[in-house]
Amino acid sequence: MGRELGWRWRVAAWWAVVAVAVGGAGAGLLESNPGLAYNFYQTTCPNVDSIVRSVTWAQVAANPALPGRLLRLHFHDCFVQGCDASILLDNAQSEKTAPPNLSVGGYEVIDAIKTQLEQACPGVVSCADIVALAARDAVSYQYKASLWQVETGRRDGPASLASNTGALPSPFAGFNGLIQSFAARGLNLTDLVVLSGAHTIGKASCSSVTPRLYQGNSTNVDPLLDSAYASRLMSSCPNPSPSSATVDLDGSTPLSFDNNYYINLQNKQGALASDTALTQNAAAAQIVNDLTNPTKFYAAFSMSMKKMGRIDVLAGSKGQIRKQCRAVNTS
Ligand code: HEM
Repeated sequence: MGRELGWRWRVAAWWAVVAVAVGGAGAGLLESNPGLAYNFYQTTCPNVDSIVRSVTWAQVAANPALPGRLLRLHFHDCFVQGCDASILLDNAQSEKTAPPNLSVGGYEVIDAIKTQLEQACPGVVSCADIVALAARDAVSYQYKASLWQVETGRRDGPASLASNTGALPSPFAGFNGLIQSFAARGLNLTDLVVLSGAHTIGKASCSSVTPRLYQGNSTNVDPLLDSAYASRLMSSCPNPSPSSATVDLDGSTPLSFDNNYYINLQNKQGALASDTALTQNAAAAQIVNDLTNPTKFYAAFSMSMKKMGRIDVLAGSKGQIRKQCRAVNTS
């Protein structure tokens, strides 16, 4: 009980910082509003927040892998054609069939939420908003309080193409490639370092890591990796690794959404080459250092998630509200 109260107090303290930071952002630090709002469904579907939260929390309680899955789902939705739920569509050549999305999951949670929302307020809440809300609620389950606020009012896109997923950054990218990928979506260096902090939870397939450990049949460890950590990676990911083998992205506190990702980076314990790349540029390394402070990390993550959630959204009369998230409406 005392532990839970301690967490509640700390979440409240983070929120105080977020409120100050977001207030300051009114001076123009954030992009102009694309037509989203807090409580967009206040009159049209007043129970949307409680419905999304209760379904998500029930599913996360039964499956601790879901916070990572749902947070990544939102990122992969927003980076390809904007936050329009295009990743959810089930066509033969749709985004979810592309290699970077083969290890993405959480779709069944979105379906369960949509089913309940269609009963409560038919044809009102978009799948794109459900993805954004479920990501927030899944991550927040651990704290029983929201770690960031989510604007709503997104509408669903009409198309999904595997060939568009080249917009997703590669885990083997160097610093310049990462910066370019984020800049193309209107996100800056701070957003890159802050949002990479999502890798404080979740897992990576060994295939995303083994090129840093082996070359052909020989061991060939990336010199930017701590040697004891590299040995741990090698025991999780032998050469060759079974295709189902995975490794925690945060080797110290894999289930906790915390600032340890940045401490790991400073200790040369970033799992992906793209994580380590953030220590190879002086300005990025300074931000990594700042974000080892948990209060700064939670405040910054909240602001960068808001920016990510605004990428190329469809609002107003654009797009549609899908009746079910895996298919566009037929009429
Ligand atoms: C900076 C560029 C990024 C790269 C190159 C990258 C790449 C990856 C890769 C390769 C994986 C493991 C996939 C696998 O091997 O199965 C992964 C997992 C993950 N990524 Fe990223 N990512 C990036 C940014 C982000 C951002 C911005 C977010 C969210 C805001 C995010 C959230 C996650 C999460 C939560 C997981 C764990 C997924 C799970 O456990 O199922 N990533 N990422």
